[in-house]
Amino acid sequence: MPQLSTRHLLGTKDLTETDIQLILETATQFKDVINRPIKKVPSLRDVTIANVFFENSTRTRLSFELAEKRLSADVINFSASGSSVKKGETLLDTVNNILAMKVDMIVMRHSSPGAPHYLSSRIPANVVNAGDGTHEHPTQALLDSFSMREKLGDLAGKRVAIIGDITHSRVALSNIFCLQKQGAEVMVCGPTTLIPKYMNSLGVRIGHDVREALAWCDVANVLRIQLERQQIKYFPSLREYSLYYGISRQMLDELDRPIVLMHPGPINRGVELTSDAADSPHSIILDQVQNGVAVRMAVLYLLAQER
Ligand code: CP
Repeated sequence: MPQLSTRHLLGTKDLTETDIQLILETATQFKDVINRPIKKVPSLRDVTIANVFFENSTRTRLSFELAEKRLSADVINFSASGSSVKKGETLLDTVNNILAMKVDMIVMRHSSPGAPHYLSSRIPANVVNAGDGTHEHPTQALLDSFSMREKLGDLAGKRVAIIGDITHSRVALSNIFCLQKQGAEVMVCGPTTLIPKYMNSLGVRIGHDVREALAWCDVANVLRIQLERQQIKYFPSLREYSLYYGISRQMLDELDRPIVLMHPGPINRGVELTSDAADSPHSIILDQVQNGVAVRMAVLYLLAQER
């Protein structure tokens, strides 16, 4: 049976092309499973998974929990708020206490870039990064690729524009690595202050005009302005951002070829996307959410084979 080259999923940077294909093909099989009347398989019946979230989440957390339950794993959920982290317990002590309860895998979201990498070198359990600060969000990129492939087929040669707050986005970096490994061309587009200088070294196009980006791409993956991570002002006002970078349905309708509109959520309606764009036939935003369960089932299933 084919296996992943890694026992943790820390980032798409570490995945091989073959790993990505294996995850996406396995997810296709799990998507069939979750569309059946009986949505559950016994694959992880002997596995216990802890979802350890130090940051807020709606989609990722629920999607992992559902994926684990669909695979018949035992699941426990931990939130930093209301836990003994508030009394000063360290990350490693917290996780080691969870592992003492015979937990096999840790799915972790943390605000510090590198936190899952730190853990993975210190604990015996498999670690899945569910988003580490502004660094990586590998399962989001994998479900994004899965959703793009459903619409466009093979991604080799396809053009993907990632538009918005690139500086504070973990989705951008994970998507860049994941898409480039599949042969797609990537552009990042946003105000200069929201595109980090290191983007120049990643082999992506850099743009500042949203209309040009939309005219160039097959897929527009639009990101939220992450005000909660911005300690200084990167642009004058949300109103001004929306004026220059906001995408409306009319802008999508006026393109001379089809475009696929994506967003990892949560959407700030009226800022990066108008409601009529987010809810338009161009949008596959809710397909992304649906596909997240199948993709996370695939990741957990394949990592469990590495135990
Ligand atoms: N896409 C995403 O990570 O959403 P949540 O923050 O709600 O998990």
